[in-house]
Amino acid sequence: MSEGAVGPDRGKIEIFAYGGGGPMRLRLRPMRVGDIPEVMKIEVRSFSLPWTEDAFVREIEKIPFSRPLVAEEVGGRNGRAGPAVGGSATGGPAAGGPAIVGYACWWEVKDECHITNVTVSPEARRRGVGKFLMREILKDARRRGAVRATLEARNSNGAAVSLYEGFGFSPVAMRKGYYPDNGEDALVMLMEFSPDGGGV
Ligand SMILES: CC(C)(COP(=O)(O)OP(=O)(O)OC[C@H]1O[C@@H](n2cnc3c(N)ncnc32)[C@H](O)[C@@H]1OP(=O)(O)O)[C@@H](O)C(=O)NCCC(=O)NCCS
Repeated sequence: MSEGAVGPDRGKIEIFAYGGGGPMRLRLRPMRVGDIPEVMKIEVRSFSLPWTEDAFVREIEKIPFSRPLVAEEVGGRNGRAGPAVGGSATGGPAAGGPAIVGYACWWEVKDECHITNVTVSPEARRRGVGKFLMREILKDARRRGAVRATLEARNSNGAAVSLYEGFGFSPVAMRKGYYPDNGEDALVMLMEFSPDGGGV
């Protein structure tokens, strides 16, 4: 598979973002199969019910409306020193390339952006990576014609709920006992894009 791309415009996006811990140079790009080992290292430390490797492969290769992304820190304290041109033959981070500090996935379901995963490496949290991922997803979704965005979060996940509220999401429903590990409820959150382009 080339470049992990499914859609025709899954091109590389290069952006600077700034987090609370000082300026952080971040690059957003489509997730590739070769990224999955790095992504899994973060995934298993972040969730009690982590996605599997196969789940990420499916998102990249099999689900045409899925848009999995990674955020890399370029030349920063979480990154590997060197130029921002990482990428081994398998598409994974090369020695000397940037490090994956977060990733996200969303589904383009007609005019709805359904966000299925937003995760930041524990070492890189509270530095604006989560905001960067959300902002770029929502900008992309709006550009592609989405009128609303939805997601689910554990009721107890204060950090995630606060992140989403900051982007205008509010709770609209509760899925009782949604998470099989502890029977916790899921909060369904919704954000409607304002017609004037405000928000993102
Ligand atoms: C939720 C998560 C993605 C936030 O990523 P992050 O890079 O640390 O977030 P940012 O630094 O961009 O912070 C953005 C906002 O999120 C909220 N936030 C982040 N961490 C928080 C915490 N520990 N407590 C409270 N609010 C928090 C704040 O509103 C913050 O805005 P502020 O800095 O203006 O206060 C990250 O904590 C994470 O990966 N958690 C584990 C995986 C997870 O739960 N994902 C969401 C699944 S629904």
